[in-house]
Amino acid sequence: MIHKSRFYTKMIFKMLKKEVVNQEDYKASYNEVANTYQDWIEQMGKFTDQMIMPAILSNETAGQKPIRVLDFACGTGYISRKIVGMGVPCEITAVDISEKMLEHCADLSDQGVKLVHMDGITFLNETEETFDVILCGWALPYFPHKVLLKKFRERLADGGIVGVIANRTGTLHKMEEIFLRVMAKNPENVRKPMDISLQLPKGREGLENWFRHHGFVAVEIDEGEAIFSFDTPEKLLAWLNETGALAGTMQIFNNYEKVKGDILREIEKEKCRDHQYEINHNFVYGIFRNGGVNGEHT
Ligand SMILES: C[S@@+](CC[C@H](N)C(=O)[O-])C[C@H]1O[C@@H](n2cnc3c(N)ncnc32)[C@H](O)[C@@H]1O
Repeated sequence: MIHKSRFYTKMIFKMLKKEVVNQEDYKASYNEVANTYQDWIEQMGKFTDQMIMPAILSNETAGQKPIRVLDFACGTGYISRKIVGMGVPCEITAVDISEKMLEHCADLSDQGVKLVHMDGITFLNETEETFDVILCGWALPYFPHKVLLKKFRERLADGGIVGVIANRTGTLHKMEEIFLRVMAKNPENVRKPMDISLQLPKGREGLENWFRHHGFVAVEIDEGEAIFSFDTPEKLLAWLNETGALAGTMQIFNNYEKVKGDILREIEKEKCRDHQYEINHNFVYGIFRNGGVNGEHT
């Protein structure tokens, strides 16, 4: 058995060498959860709505010409579907890396939404299109934010709008520790670590700082929390896996089934309160305006 300090050193080296859960792993995860992702939408869609409508209405071309919208990491198309339902004239492009998630967008394609199956950053690098509104729901941490916000700004019209909703630090309390403990207990089963928590914004201030740094001006910004309770650790873990909230974690291990018992035992130890197993989803959302050439809105 590898000594714990040796194990952590090994993980740090892997992280330095960028041998971490990567975009192919997230793609594989979302391909797996495509048929159950609706559970997330049913519970969390109402929070996404708080970002969609203000973002579309903050756009200044509204009423003059169709709004060019990019639904970035669109998943099963919740955001695009909402916009189509608003009846505002729009030209929507929806991009996602998971072909299985995109299969659930067939109805949108019929309504004129352009679906693109591609890694998001590759799309932003290759497209010559400009957008009035870019919306990104629940996907920010899958991208290096410095690269992403720079690319958003390049593809956004002057005065254009970015709307985001994303998990923030403090979300899924204790889950990271639980996984680290299970990894340390099963070092021979660990393929690669995950660095997604480094990509979570630190609440309102954190998100605003990221955007301000890239020349955006905050129009609206807020945060929230949703808590779900289950009567068994198995149901809690199933919720996290089936909604994509733990996307990428199965890919940490060579054989996930072998460590699943340890994960459940840790959940039982760490997450039980009054015979219920609770999980929190902490998030932040914001609407940001492209401030123009000098970072000031013109
Ligand atoms: C939690 S889902 C969000 C889906 C949708 N935006 C929503 O609000 O319901 C995250 C999505 O990000 C996508 N994604 C992850 N990494 C990506 C990448 N590198 N490029 C494009 N999409 C990616 C996943 O395939 C998944 O559909």
